[in-house]
Amino acid sequence: MTVESVVWDEWYPVAIAEDVTPCKVYKTRLLGHSIEYACDAAGRLTAWRDNAERTPCRALTRYHAHWVSLGEPSDGFFALPEFDEPDRRALGAGSMAVHVSGLRAIENFLDMAHFPYVHDGYLGSEPYTDVLPYDVSIEPPGEIFARNCRFFQPKGAPTAAEEGHDAQYVYRVARPFVALLYKSSPGHQERMDVIGLFVQPLTEEWCKAHTLLLYLDETTPDSGLRLFQQTIFGQDLMLLSNEIPKKMPLDSRFEIPVRADAMSMAYRRWLDQRGVRYGTYRELESPAMPAPAGHLPTGEIA
Ligand SMILES: [Fe+2]
Repeated sequence: MTVESVVWDEWYPVAIAEDVTPCKVYKTRLLGHSIEYACDAAGRLTAWRDNAERTPCRALTRYHAHWVSLGEPSDGFFALPEFDEPDRRALGAGSMAVHVSGLRAIENFLDMAHFPYVHDGYLGSEPYTDVLPYDVSIEPPGEIFARNCRFFQPKGAPTAAEEGHDAQYVYRVARPFVALLYKSSPGHQERMDVIGLFVQPLTEEWCKAHTLLLYLDETTPDSGLRLFQQTIFGQDLMLLSNEIPKKMPLDSRFEIPVRADAMSMAYRRWLDQRGVRYGTYRELESPAMPAPAGHLPTGEIA
């Protein structure tokens, strides 16, 4: 299949920087193609197609992650000014393969409605199940933001107080497969922790989710920060692995106009308007596929 330019000519993460051993060749997949990559002793990344010609791929290291493009990325990399703040800790929190479209993984990351059900005792708990109104906007250079998000969290961070607190969130979608979460940081009034979800589309129905933490936390050891985030993502894994269909539905039948889904709907419309097709599903394009009876859209986890 031919992959549309908006997906093909894009940078994708293949690894968190600290997980790569210098001078070792790694194999992976990107958009259905086998590729290999390696870092030299100085940390410089190179990547190539796993074919007879070993066709070179564009490769760079940015934001504590290694990125590869199969195409010709034309515009600038997304901005992440927090990465340059000297008092932030940057560390990876794992790279996990998931049997679902990478777009679904991003959509799940943007969804607060599942917190009390999937992350009970951490990011939510019953009876605090309401998603309060928040503001969705498209902001330069064409990114989606959800601002003024709040949710009661029993333990929203490794250092969160025992009695729970109202966490403040800002969600940002910078690229179809890149989302960032800005989250109130215990002990900091004005600044927020940042969690980056960088998704590598292995195929249309498999992805690898790479997580970057940019934390203001000065006390929790790296292992504690990683364990907390991996615990949260482990809870999402079961949910994501059971998504039907595996691809992202860009089909009005799946949209339920309730407030909690405002970000999800904005993301789907944004993907559609940008012409993203890879990893998506439309009823008209797949007439043999039955309607997924009993399917619950993201944000309606019961
Ligand atoms: Fe989740």
